[in-house]
Amino acid sequence: MNLISSEEAFEDAFHRAAQQHERAWVFIVLAMLAVLLVGTMFFVVLDYGLVSRGTSFLRRPDAVMDDPAFREGKVVQTGSNSYAVYMVGHAWAWSPGVVHVKEGAQVTFYVTSTDVLHGFELQGTTINVTAMPGAVGKVEYKFDRAGTYYIICNEYCGIEHHSMIGRIIVDPKDKS
Ligand code: CUA
Repeated sequence: MNLISSEEAFEDAFHRAAQQHERAWVFIVLAMLAVLLVGTMFFVVLDYGLVSRGTSFLRRPDAVMDDPAFREGKVVQTGSNSYAVYMVGHAWAWSPGVVHVKEGAQVTFYVTSTDVLHGFELQGTTINVTAMPGAVGKVEYKFDRAGTYYIICNEYCGIEHHSMIGRIIVDPKDKS
C-alpha cells in the first residue's frame, strides 16, 4: 500500500515535470517562429532583392530622358581609369551600343529603360540588372581582363529581343 502510493506520487510528479518541460519548449519554439517571421519581414523590407538595390525611382517613366546623360547615352570619365556609363535599353537596342574602356577600368553603370522591361546582363561578369522604365539601377564593376563583353537582354521584350546585344570593349593596357 505504502509502496503503491509512493509510486503513484512519483508518477504524478514526473508527469507534472514533463508537462512543464513541454510547455517551456512549446513557448521557446513559438518565440523562435515569431523572431523568424518578424526577421524575415525586416529582411524583405530592408533588402528588397536585386531589382531595387541601388535603384532610384522617378516620378514619370520617361523622366529619365530629361537627363542629357541618358538622352545621349553618355560615357563619362570620372577618374584616371574610372567611368560612369549611362545605359538606356529600348526596343530593341542598347544605347550606347558600344563602350570602350581600358583594362582595369572601374565602371559604374546607370541602367534604365524608355519603354518596357529589359535585362542588362553582361556576359562573363556578375552584372545582371533589370532595366526598368521610371527607375535607374546602379551597378559597379572592375574590368580586370581585356576583351569584348556582350550585353545581352535577358528579359523577354518583344519580337527582336534576341537581337538586343551591346558591347563593352575593354582594351588592353599597353594599347592606347
Ligand atoms: Cu530587351 Cu529583351
